[in-house]
Amino acid sequence: MSQGLVTMSYIAASILFILSLSGLSQQETSRRGNYFGMLGMAIAIIATVFGGHVTAYAILAGALLIGGTIGAFAAARVEMTQMPELVALMHSLVGMAAVLVGYASFMEHSSTLIGAEKTIHELEIYIGVFIGAVTFSGSVIAFGKLCGKISGKPVMLPARHWLNLIMLIATVFFGYRFLAGAEAGAGLVPLLIMTAIALVFGVHMVMAIGGADMPVVVSMLNSYSGWAAAATGFMLSNDLLIVTGALVGSSGAILSYIMCRAMNRHFLSVIAGGFGSAGGGEAAEIEGEVQPIEAEETAALLRESKNIVIIPGYGMAVAQAQHTVNEITKLLTSQGKKVRFAIHPVAGRMPGHMNVLLAEAKVPYDIVFEMDEINEDFPNVDVSIVIGANDIVNPSALNDPNSPIAGMPVLECWKGETTIVMKRSMASGYAGVGNPLFVLENTRMLFGDANDRLQALLKALQS
Ligand code: TAP
Repeated sequence: MSQGLVTMSYIAASILFILSLSGLSQQETSRRGNYFGMLGMAIAIIATVFGGHVTAYAILAGALLIGGTIGAFAAARVEMTQMPELVALMHSLVGMAAVLVGYASFMEHSSTLIGAEKTIHELEIYIGVFIGAVTFSGSVIAFGKLCGKISGKPVMLPARHWLNLIMLIATVFFGYRFLAGAEAGAGLVPLLIMTAIALVFGVHMVMAIGGADMPVVVSMLNSYSGWAAAATGFMLSNDLLIVTGALVGSSGAILSYIMCRAMNRHFLSVIAGGFGSAGGGEAAEIEGEVQPIEAEETAALLRESKNIVIIPGYGMAVAQAQHTVNEITKLLTSQGKKVRFAIHPVAGRMPGHMNVLLAEAKVPYDIVFEMDEINEDFPNVDVSIVIGANDIVNPSALNDPNSPIAGMPVLECWKGETTIVMKRSMASGYAGVGNPLFVLENTRMLFGDANDRLQALLKALQS
């Protein structure tokens, strides 16, 4: 393949990636966005493989076969609820790749380049390895937290900000030693020390974040993985990797910012780690009587209602109840009732989790509303049905300053006439906080597996 053709292919792939991102920003166009991304990636791989840089085709074919098989196997087996963990694991691989490419690049080029070119290349390596190592260890911890292998509670060392500062200064110091030492062929030791520091930094940063703040970590690590890929692109002098990495890095950063706004957190304190701990005192105890309800009574209540809002959460994903929800929605709509969905930005376990599930069940997009679009309308709502959601409808976020989720905007369903909460028990949600919504006078608890209960509700509505 000629160099001109490779460049053309890279430009085409970059354009397709941009179209992919723009497609993914809207539900209606997200499928098309995915196709653009897949096509762009196929072009990118073909151009890279046949672009003249690769000579060891047998090794490449072996790597593609092994990697492709593992990827296909993981993607086929993963449950929708395990997606965030898989994504975190994938981010860690991007980080690890950046570290390995950095070391390989250092070993290969350190003796052939000279002057400013050598210094720039070494700087690329140093920064690339640093970002890669932080991404790798941070993503591994995020994976552990998301799948419950590590406690979701924030673990904060007493002088954590000082420790971060010391690690940052040490990184700069060893960077200087690396650049100076590399001239004399002694750059490996500072590079190894910095890698160890970066690994500890990644662990320390993500360990200090927990509970309801995890969404920000997920999108932040997504952004880091993009920058790690861009750094790898610099090290390998691959323009497409630089562009793609920058696209992922910046879109991840924008998503982190949006998440921060949704969680009412400051972006800078996210980067420093250890945010999201409450103001000091004990969170209030939840006291009161729970009022259970059955599917038949719920159906009767819905028959009387005109304005209904459905609030899906993580439990809907666990129960895979989205199809039954859609059936109920169609039935109620056909009876002339106004049915809408209210989506909290961090509902579920990954950005857009609920939107994906509802789209899969073919719920019309025009009845799916963001939190900001619907929150003010709750006083006019007859019945809100909360399906396997907990933290995102917790009033203590607004009225208990000592709650670990204090300050997080939530869906204010309790302002409606009646709220039906569907869940299996009185267990808390991801953030591990009690929810006073369950004992409010206008709340009824419909206990059981969400899909099971919704099937019963559908049957009761049909009869
Ligand atoms: P959660 O607060 O985690 O509550 C989910 C509820 O679903 C649980 O209380 C659980 O109660 C119930 N449930 C589980 N399985 C069920 C089933 N089969 N049938 C019925 N109910 C079931 O979820 P949420 O309200 O969606 O809030 C999301 C939380 O996750 C937030 O704290 C958020 O910060 C965090 N988080 C979000 C993300 C992203 S990016 N969205 C990433 C990481 C963390 P029972 O056990 O009693 O059934």
